[in-house]
Amino acid sequence: MKKEENMSAEEKYWRMRVFDSLPYPSVIISPDKTLMGANKTFYEAFNLSFKEIFGKKCYHTFLYKNTPCDSDQCTISKVIRDKKSHSFTLRHHYRWEKRVFSPILDENGDVAHVMGSMLDITQTKSLENQLHGVQEFISQVIHSSASAIVAADRQGNINLMNSVAKELFGDYNGGEGKIRHTAQLYPPGKAQEVMRMLRDEKVGGKGKLLIPRTTIVNSHGKEIEVEMSAAIIYDEKGNESATMAIYNDLKDKIKVEKELEMAQKQLAQSEKMASLGQLAAGVAHEINNPLTGVLFYASLLLERKDIDEDMREDLGYILEDANRCKSIVKSLLVYSRSAGTQKNLVQLNDIVEQSLTLIRDQKKFRNIIIKKELSDEMMLIQADTSKLNQMVINLVINAADAMDGVGTITLTTYKEKMLKQIYLEIKDTGTGIPPGNLSKIFDPFFTTKEVGKSTGLGLSIVYGIVEEHGAKISVKKTGSKGTTFVVEFPMYVASQINPSLCQP
Ligand SMILES: Nc1ncnc2c1ncn2[C@@H]1O[C@H](COP(=O)(O)OP(=O)(O)OP(=O)(O)O)[C@@H](O)[C@H]1O
Ligand SMILES: [Mg+2]
Repeated sequence: MKKEENMSAEEKYWRMRVFDSLPYPSVIISPDKTLMGANKTFYEAFNLSFKEIFGKKCYHTFLYKNTPCDSDQCTISKVIRDKKSHSFTLRHHYRWEKRVFSPILDENGDVAHVMGSMLDITQTKSLENQLHGVQEFISQVIHSSASAIVAADRQGNINLMNSVAKELFGDYNGGEGKIRHTAQLYPPGKAQEVMRMLRDEKVGGKGKLLIPRTTIVNSHGKEIEVEMSAAIIYDEKGNESATMAIYNDLKDKIKVEKELEMAQKQLAQSEKMASLGQLAAGVAHEINNPLTGVLFYASLLLERKDIDEDMREDLGYILEDANRCKSIVKSLLVYSRSAGTQKNLVQLNDIVEQSLTLIRDQKKFRNIIIKKELSDEMMLIQADTSKLNQMVINLVINAADAMDGVGTITLTTYKEKMLKQIYLEIKDTGTGIPPGNLSKIFDPFFTTKEVGKSTGLGLSIVYGIVEEHGAKISVKKTGSKGTTFVVEFPMYVASQINPSLCQP
């Protein structure tokens, strides 16, 4: 340090000028906390003179107190102890002040005096508060967004995930969880592709990207379909500083799309079945009359005594084939719903039991295990018992055919009280239905079985019966492990039987 006596008069002079020229009020305090003087800015700011402050205690002038501060908290004591500056911030009404205390060391390096300066930081504070408010607002917007928002630095390290993003991706814990890097948000290789597209001006503009449908992976490795928009964040100089992406889970949208597609398919199916039904009814009625004639005259001929054995045999064939045609016509009438129906209040479980009794002894079921998982609850429906028996039998026979005589058929009943629906499921362990056949199985005469043995009317009859009961039938599941058909009946509710009771 330069000794005082070596200092030129000029240097001493400008050193004094520096103190006076400081733009903020400053005072010199002795180690016993007595004010020794102040700079010009101080005297002017507080309209005080040297005489008025000299010898006064600092706590009096600075903190407007009459007693000294606790020595542990006294900033001047800290400056003397540490030989370095300390500061604190103070607020008078709307004015914010930063008070900085710096040591003035003597020739031996000890603290001879302390310089205290009062810096007006009101404007800085107000800007800081505004900035804090804006940050707080942006944070609220991000965190209350219904979309998942993720931000990352230039290297791809994730530094922000809002609550929806945490839920979508799972296990992000401020960089502590499994997910830390944007590469972990996508299937392998996808993150690089996204970054490449983001920088490609031809895709959505430079630094911007919108992908209506893409795949992300969550922390459990599950792939999720999302709509995604991303952007590069640039600093004032136009350099890339971060990236951000917004994701919207498409689960609900896909579900609605699938439901719509299903509804359209069902509509097309029922329209097709309705016109096929009309056709079937027309054909059945047209054939019925000539067929009755063929059967009648063939039977009459067969009763005659004057015919030879060959002719008798031929007549037998005619009658057999005509009877087969008659049963087809009968089936067509059931399918087209032209046959009469007699509905009563019945227990679905009883129908299932009855139908199984009817087929119990058939050779087809010898090596088949039939399991019943019937609900204990009341399963009342309005139904034509014999038609429902026919429906169950057709479905069970198909199940047995699909298993080539060996396997398990499970019949399950249950109800959904809220939806007022009663369900019957028939599950087999057969070969399944190829996807290409699914839209045809309910068509009359569609069969994959041996021609001549099967007419392909079984499921069309089932369909007709189901429709007649205001029910619905569908293939719930099918594949190499088997097929499950489900029939959904409207649950019987008391007012259904005699609505007039409720009316005036
Ligand atoms: N449980 C099932 N598993 C696999 N395929 C089935 C099943 N049920 C029906 N199918 C398929 O649907 C087709 C149509 O069935 P449907 O009952 O209408 O006729 P069918 O059984 O072939 O002949 P029919 O019932 O007149 O004797 C069957 O030929 C078969 O290909
Ligand atoms: Mg069948």
